[in-house]
Amino acid sequence: MLLTGASGGIGEALAQELAAQGAHLLLHGRRASALERLCKALPHPEHHQIVIADLGSSQERARLLQHPALDEGLDVLINNAGCNQFAWLEDQSAEQVERQLLLNIEAPIQLTRALLPRLRKPAVVMNIGSSFGAIGYAGYSVYCASKFALRGFSEALGRELEGTGIKVLHFAPRATRTRLNPEAAYEMNAELGTRTDSPQDVAEAAVIALCNETRRSWLGWPEKLFVRLNGLLPGLVDKALAKQRVIIERYARHSPPPAAGKGHPTAVMTEKEP
Ligand SMILES: NC(=O)c1ccc[n+]([C@@H]2O[C@H](COP(=O)([O-])OP(=O)(O)OC[C@H]3O[C@@H](n4cnc5c(N)ncnc54)[C@H](OP(=O)(O)O)[C@@H]3O)[C@@H](O)[C@H]2O)c1
Repeated sequence: MLLTGASGGIGEALAQELAAQGAHLLLHGRRASALERLCKALPHPEHHQIVIADLGSSQERARLLQHPALDEGLDVLINNAGCNQFAWLEDQSAEQVERQLLLNIEAPIQLTRALLPRLRKPAVVMNIGSSFGAIGYAGYSVYCASKFALRGFSEALGRELEGTGIKVLHFAPRATRTRLNPEAAYEMNAELGTRTDSPQDVAEAAVIALCNETRRSWLGWPEKLFVRLNGLLPGLVDKALAKQRVIIERYARHSPPPAAGKGHPTAVMTEKEP
């Protein structure tokens, strides 16, 4: 089982949940120390391996694909690694836009494409989306674009692979307390009365969705309702979110810049669900 983005947040909690259920994991991330620590703490560390790669780089993705653990074939691929930038579009640099699109949509597509011939049958591809893959939200225009695209990719590929033994699942958490989000996002959530899940709760739900092969999962209430409402009556959601716009802008404009050369590379990337 290959799990991307296992070195933190939802991915780390997923690794713990899956290992507890007996999975043999290839744990991916960029921070070797975090992955080694995680691996040692899992039940049966000898069943797990780690692989380091920046998925925004095609060379590093190619290196990941050469990992010997993948030669034996794969029964589960979880595309979980992701990043976001909580900011008005005009305040985002070209590089920040590119980073979100590369990691959140290009990387899962390219990894899945390259691994398709190595997927056993039956096999499952689970893509970790977001409520923002169905609700466009101010301050997250690029992140939403990437997660809408990931949802479309999951749905189309699932239909393409119908009857082949390979299932494609789209699993969408709402706001979750991880390093993806800066403190400003949690403060905004508190002001707007938006609930935040723990990575452990999200991981538990993801493993249930994986075991049941649930094609589409949306976590949290009222987010599930908003997702449906936005599909059917987007004008209503426009009006509801217009009331939050001033508050969102206040936090999005004050989301702190990255600490140069140190800290978590995604520490300034934030997500808040309505
Ligand atoms: N947190 C939320 O509010 C929330 C809500 C809905 C959906 N999601 C989605 O859930 C998934 C996991 O997010 P999270 O909240 O757990 O985030 P997180 O705590 O920031 O963890 C992100 C993971 O992605 C990896 N990663 C970041 N940039 C990478 C890159 N360029 N190349 C390879 N790996 C990279 C990180 O590895 P290193 O740390 O080793 O760099 C880390 O393992 C994402 O797809 C996110 O969009 C999150």
